[in-house]
Amino acid sequence: MTRRSCTIYVVGITCAVLLAVGIGLFAGQVFRTLMNNRLKKEIVLVEGSRVFDSWKKPPPPVYMQFFFFNVTNPDVFIAGGKPEVKQIGPYTYREYRYKDNVSMVANGKMVSAYNTKSFVFLREKSVGDPAEDNITTVNIPAWAVMNNVKDSFWRTSMVSIWMNSLKSGLFTTRTVDELLWGYEDRLLVRVASTKPEVETVFGLMYKKNGSNDGEFIYHTGEQNYMDYGRIETWKGQRELSFWSSNYSNSIVGSDGSAFHPLLDKDERIYIFTPDLCRTIYMEFEKDVEVKGIPAYRFTPPRSVLASKEENPDNEGFCVTPKECLGTGVLKVSPCRKGAPVVASFPHFYLADGKYVAAIEGLSPERTHHQTFLDLNPTTGVIVRAHKRAQVNVLMQRIPGIPSTKFLNETVFPVMFLNESVEIDDASAEKLKKLLLISNLVSNFPLVIVGLGVILLLVFVILLCQARKQKSSAEDDTAYSPVNDKEKEDPQNGTYIGLTPKADVEA
Ligand SMILES: *[C@@H]1O[C@H](CO)[C@@H](O)[C@H](O)[C@H]1NC(C)=O
Ligand SMILES: *[C@@H]1O[C@H](CO)[C@@H](O)[C@H](O)[C@H]1NC(C)=O
Ligand SMILES: *[C@@H]1O[C@H](CO)[C@@H](O)[C@H](O)[C@H]1NC(C)=O
Ligand SMILES: *[C@@H]1O[C@H](CO)[C@@H](O)[C@H](O)[C@H]1NC(C)=O
Ligand SMILES: *[C@@H]1O[C@H](CO)[C@@H](O)[C@H](O)[C@H]1NC(C)=O
Ligand SMILES: *[C@@H]1O[C@H](CO)[C@@H](O)[C@H](O)[C@H]1NC(C)=O
Repeated sequence: MTRRSCTIYVVGITCAVLLAVGIGLFAGQVFRTLMNNRLKKEIVLVEGSRVFDSWKKPPPPVYMQFFFFNVTNPDVFIAGGKPEVKQIGPYTYREYRYKDNVSMVANGKMVSAYNTKSFVFLREKSVGDPAEDNITTVNIPAWAVMNNVKDSFWRTSMVSIWMNSLKSGLFTTRTVDELLWGYEDRLLVRVASTKPEVETVFGLMYKKNGSNDGEFIYHTGEQNYMDYGRIETWKGQRELSFWSSNYSNSIVGSDGSAFHPLLDKDERIYIFTPDLCRTIYMEFEKDVEVKGIPAYRFTPPRSVLASKEENPDNEGFCVTPKECLGTGVLKVSPCRKGAPVVASFPHFYLADGKYVAAIEGLSPERTHHQTFLDLNPTTGVIVRAHKRAQVNVLMQRIPGIPSTKFLNETVFPVMFLNESVEIDDASAEKLKKLLLISNLVSNFPLVIVGLGVILLLVFVILLCQARKQKSSAEDDTAYSPVNDKEKEDPQNGTYIGLTPKADVEA
């Protein structure tokens, strides 16, 4: 009888302690905070950290796919009619990326690196041979030259005469290889004979194979996890000089290859893209899952490329107040040596309907033309991403060039690309293990609460039995296993508490 009531006391007190401690730890989020601090400490860009090697040489395969718009009725368009295009692609390249000349700067507070990319063609993932497939598209070098001289009637007339004698028209037919990797253009050769600084070779990806887009200096994230991967300078500059407002010229956020851990659904993610010569932002769209890993999908909202009427912040992206385009298109001529190049999403997704309506053969769709990033919110790791962008040329009437006489101002699509990546299986397994540990540790107080609840039940049963005054020896064995379990748990705690050291890498 005394042994029994003593047991009841012990069970009751242990149960109360477990419940109090468990609920206390849970309410205080103690373990979650510990785990989060651990993540913040491990996800930094310094030699020897868990993420450094995969940041320098990301393991998941990246594919770059190009789709061209083959113009089927150039003559009709030049005569003032509606152009018709047919999408041809994909031409797929495996993209190899790594960070070159990585070195710590500013007393180890920041890291400097060059992002080198190279491309190897994959025939089996492509529709044809890029060396043979002929595409009829806008003659971009001619439009660049015309755009550069359009303010001087005399030089425009000169260019018009050259174009006629060289049979260089408003459209051109070239192979995919030429359009991407470069060809010598007759008109540019002629221009270069008087202006030697002019590049005579044109290609959308000319000199992009095996090269980098300048030096980046990044924050390591050691001082503040929110700064992980944030760009401090690009080519030695803290901000750009292409645009006309501080907002437009600012370099904010990361380069799109690293994101801070512990992401929030409410935050805006900023990414600086040298291709677009500007910073863009993305917002949370929905929860997704990739290979069993939970992720937040971030995507650029319409306001990023909205016209200045729709989003006054964007006023600085107008090259001059006169040259202001509508929603969904960005004129990037300031950073394309004055060529009238316009960037947009593929098929003018998210753009003003007039751009789609002006061209026969376009049909924007979210699933096919959206740019998005799926980020694991705990670690900030990219589990899947599709970067999609379209290159267009602004075609318009140019006084002094007779062949442009009937043109309506048109943003003419030339090509769009889809740069995609999905986490590889090995990294996915590592990441899943890490997330499991993180979850277990964060929710460890619930285990304590669970044990407390079990003991509470035992306690109630014991009390009831004691009331009935029926004593028997077997009862002791009935609850002894529970006592065993309870003895084990402090060990469990330290065991799990140590494991997060394992793998942060992904
Ligand atoms: C593009 O269009 C032209 C003329 O319409 C055609 O000859 C050519 O084969 C097309 N290119 C491809 C790759 O289909
Ligand atoms: C060209 O612009 C005029 C005036 O805006 C419009 O009436 C005409 O339909 C346009 N032509 C084409 C082919 O889009
Ligand atoms: C990296 O450093 C080497 C040696 O200092 C230099 O030759 C090379 O040009 C650098 N690479 C880049 C991309 O700047
Ligand atoms: C790019 O360079 C790599 C190696 O330098 C080469 O194997 C590959 O064929 C090149 N790609 C293109 C499209 O020229
Ligand atoms: C592309 O054009 C070139 C030159 O006009 C021609 O030799 C070649 O056969 C064409 N390729 C195809 C696939 O039609
Ligand atoms: C990239 O986007 C294009 C256009 O929607 C699509 O056809 C292609 O399958 C995508 N590529 C990958 C690897 O998902």
